[in-house]
Order: sequence, then C-alpha cells, then structure tokens
Amino acid sequence: TATITTTALRACKQRGEPIACLTCYDAAFAQLLERAGVEVLLVGDSLGMVVQGHSTTVPVTLDQMVYHSRCVTRVAEQSLVIADLPFMSYATPERALEAAARLMGEGGAAMVKLEGGEALAETVARLTAFGAPVCAHLGLLPQSIHQLGGYRVQGRDAEMAARIEADALALQAAGASLLVLECVPSALAAALAQRLHIPVIGIGAGRGCDGQVLVLHDILGLTPGKAPRFSKNFLAERADDGANDKAEVSIEAAVRAYVAAVKAGAFPAPEHTLA
Ligand code: KIV
Ligand code: NA
Repeated sequence: TATITTTALRACKQRGEPIACLTCYDAAFAQLLERAGVEVLLVGDSLGMVVQGHSTTVPVTLDQMVYHSRCVTRVAEQSLVIADLPFMSYATPERALEAAARLMGEGGAAMVKLEGGEALAETVARLTAFGAPVCAHLGLLPQSIHQLGGYRVQGRDAEMAARIEADALALQAAGASLLVLECVPSALAAALAQRLHIPVIGIGAGRGCDGQVLVLHDILGLTPGKAPRFSKNFLAERADDGANDKAEVSIEAAVRAYVAAVKAGAFPAPEHTLA
C-alpha cells in the first residue's frame, strides 16, 4: 500500500505545500518518478494518445487501463497511484463499481478518477461507500472531446464558471477525495482551491491550485505532435541551460526539476497559464 495517502495530501494542502503529480504508464517510469519525489502517479487514459498513438482518449479500454495500472503498481512503493476510469466505463453506478473493482483489485490502484460534474455525484457516493476513493475531474474533459469540439479553456464565462464551482461542491459533498481541474482560468482554479477542503490538482489551471499534474511525455518532449501550451519540456530546459555546465541532463534530473518547480511554486509560470 502507498505510504502517501489522501490524508497526507490533505495535510500538504493545509500547510500550503504544492503536491507534485505526473502521469505514469509503466514500471520503469514508476520507479524513476518515485525516486525523483513525485507523490502522485496518475495512470491516465492520456496513454491512448502518448502510448497508443490515438488522437483522443476515447478508444482506451478498461482492460488496457488495468494492464497499465498493474505495470505501475507492481513497483510503486510510496506514491499514491490513481487510475483513470476510461470512456463509458462509469456510464452507470453499477458499471463504475465493476470498473473500479478491476482497476483497484487487478490493477492495484489506490484511487480511481472520473470526468464529469454533478450528474456523477451518485456514482461518486456509491464508489466511496464501497471503499473506492475518487478523484473528480472538471474543466476540460478529454473524454468528451467529440462533444466539446476542441481542446480549449473552459469556464471563462461567468455561467460556466458557476457551473464548475457547483459541480466541484457537489462532487466533494458526494465524497470525492481529490479534484483535477484542467484548462480553467487561474482565478477560478485558485478560488476553488480556497473554497474546497479537498486538494485541487491543476493542469493548465495556474499556480493557485494545491498541486500540479502534467503528462509525463510532455515534460520530456516525447509527445507525438505538438505538446499543449500549458506544459513545459523540463528535459530541454536542462540541456539548454548552458550557464550551469554541471547541470545533469537526464530524465531523472528533468523530473526532479519539475518536482522542485512545483514545490517552489515556480511552475506554472505565467507563460504556462491560459487565462
Ligand atoms: O489522462 C490524463 O493524463 C489526465 C490528466 C491530464 C489529468 O487525466
Ligand atoms: Na485522463
């Protein structure tokens, strides 16, 4: 079992220490990320894009999520491992329970993540009632990309900002342990992090969150095609840093630089902030 628990993350929030999270899909990286101080490993369905080469997360199956979760949890010792419930695997509370049973049972994950608002409150309540901690995900919802029509900032207008806030409060009340906010204005994310007692982990949501998450391949410059504007290539930054010729250029050093930047509140910088 993970030594970094939900309670530990909540303590981080209370003392104002930003939580460092990255996506992770296999054993080699699980070991490296832990060694580099990453506290939360997210087996994200973004693996559909960066590992499988799809253009969205929609084709990712539950079997594939179980497999990758197992690869990560087989070697992870301290970090909290969260696994994404893939597209449609939580379309009913019953299906969500069955899918979580697989991600946590076979996959070994300590928490499951799902995308969506108040409509999922009952599902979150059922999962938590049976001992499956839940990370909610609001703002840009990649599984709904065919409905959204594009990857862009969510919640710029007052109406949608109010919707996101109501959703966040409903999911917290239903028992969610964590909230990921993706591509929302930093002022909205900061206000929500203040308002909620559960930790808020941002991606493209500014520095006012209780922690940050990025896609592993983005911070190493490995993403096929263009990486999102809110991410940063920490490996290239070290290679470019001619001023410090003793700077070690390695994947582990890049991940350590990410963790240090998150902990220091230096990442995301204004240029990684969308609104
Ligand atoms: O799948 C993923 O990588 C995610 C993060 C972007 C939060 O859900
Ligand atoms: Na995801």
